[in-house]
Amino acid sequence: MDRFIRKNQELSAILDISRVLTSSFDLDKNLNAVMESLAGQLEMQRGCVFLLNHISRELRIVAAYGLTPEEIRRGKYRIGEGIVGQVIESGQPMFIPNIGAEPKFLNRTDSRPQKSGVSFLCIPIGLDSHIMGVISVDRIYTEERGNVDDDLRVLSIVASFIAQFVKLWEHFQQAEQECGNLRSQLKEKFNLSNIIGEAPSFQHILKSVRKVATTDTTVLLLGESGTGKELIAQTLHYQSSRSKEPFVAVNMAALPENLIEAELFGVEKGSFTGATTRRLGRFEMAHHGTIFLDEIGELPLNLQVKLLRVLQERKFERIGSSESIPVYARIVAATNRNLLEEVKKGNFREDLYWRLNVVPVDLPPLRDRVEDVPLLLDFYMKKFNGMYGRCVRLDPEAIGQLTAYRWPGNVRKLANLVERLVIMAEQDVITGEDLPFNLVSLTQKPIPPISVDALNLGREIEGLERSRIIKALKDNNGVQQQAARSLGFTPRQLGYRMKKYGIGLRYD
Ligand SMILES: Nc1ncnc2c1ncn2[C@@H]1O[C@H](COP(=O)(O)OP(=O)(O)OP(=O)(O)O)[C@@H](O)[C@H]1O
Ligand SMILES: [Mg+2]
Repeated sequence: MDRFIRKNQELSAILDISRVLTSSFDLDKNLNAVMESLAGQLEMQRGCVFLLNHISRELRIVAAYGLTPEEIRRGKYRIGEGIVGQVIESGQPMFIPNIGAEPKFLNRTDSRPQKSGVSFLCIPIGLDSHIMGVISVDRIYTEERGNVDDDLRVLSIVASFIAQFVKLWEHFQQAEQECGNLRSQLKEKFNLSNIIGEAPSFQHILKSVRKVATTDTTVLLLGESGTGKELIAQTLHYQSSRSKEPFVAVNMAALPENLIEAELFGVEKGSFTGATTRRLGRFEMAHHGTIFLDEIGELPLNLQVKLLRVLQERKFERIGSSESIPVYARIVAATNRNLLEEVKKGNFREDLYWRLNVVPVDLPPLRDRVEDVPLLLDFYMKKFNGMYGRCVRLDPEAIGQLTAYRWPGNVRKLANLVERLVIMAEQDVITGEDLPFNLVSLTQKPIPPISVDALNLGREIEGLERSRIIKALKDNNGVQQQAARSLGFTPRQLGYRMKKYGIGLRYD
């Protein structure tokens, strides 16, 4: 054959194979397509790609041409076994001119009724000095149909492409697995059982969170700083059918005004903006997942108009492009501002407010659900004790003081304080005296004076009692007799209190 034509064919086969290998991360499909392409180029009878299993140290056929599935299944070798095993051991290519005359040729696959006159080429697949498999080809050489050196050259190039591909594929598999593990950890972490709160006002909220998690409805989270808006937003996402898709948070207060638009909607490549590459916006990144528009109250008025359009029409354009991109992401927004006040003051568009306010979730401040303070203290004590390998606990006086505290920073502040107490504690029991001075003073001199009046104190004590009973019932799997004993009550006293506090058989 004309050498020039032959070289051209080689080049186009190599180009074809490099395209196939970069088309996807499907190992089976890509390697079989490579064998198909080589078959045409080398006029081979049979061909196989063997890969070494790192654990069993066995070579297995992962792609083949000209073999039946049964023959593929039989094709297993150990390192050093047969020609294939020898090539992997030595890392050197081998050429057997006539397999009929070669005793080392094991023919494990049993796919060659006619061995005489068939040549066998076997090339290692490796990167640097790491050999990960071999590629083998059977063919019959005749005067006018190719020569061995040309074939060995083409196969070496293809083997190095395959090596690169397999390495990337392994990384991809590993990343996929890690991603899957992380995703299930997130699902576990952002689970309703990790949101603490037994107060009726809070239970009511969790009920609606449970309900809306399964829908695509826009949710507006309201509440003071540290009340759990972001926690609820993430829980909504990880407990919905979108949990495998991304959760993308954008904090409007953290971005400079002139960057918010590009951040949200992205920038088209080569547009008048001078962008050299296309930059995806957060709406596109969220795709079929959830976009969390945090601190929405800080969004400048001119961008409120643009966001309103996105919410109304469910589509947007990248900056510098006229192509409309549909929005499939679920929208969750949050603010610690009183948005209605902002509407009245003219700082927030009323139409946008109503668009966002489809399902409002108003998180109560901690001072309005004092009965949850002991539960939260317990939750965070356990968490940080585990984290720092300690077994610190609060004595009743400390719990009492912390329950009476007004918690201006809400749960965030409580969690931070518990973490600090666990780290700093010199003994295993923390007493009221160990609490920071400023905290005690705010308890003693509360900002709204009603907190010390007898009525409020009574309510707080009742709240504490109620949450203790709920906890005891939970700890004792609902067995009232045991729960009563752990609390130092008679079963009758417990029954009376459960009735008084409206605690049902499901403890709520
Ligand atoms: N009910 C809860 N149970 C357990 N942890 C909670 C609860 N609410 C909030 N937290 C924790 O408190 C911290 C603050 O919560 P989060 O960041 O969700 O508050 P936020 O409302 O978004 O505050 P900000 O307005 O300041 O951004 C987080 O560590 C969160 O996990
Ligand atoms: Mg937040």
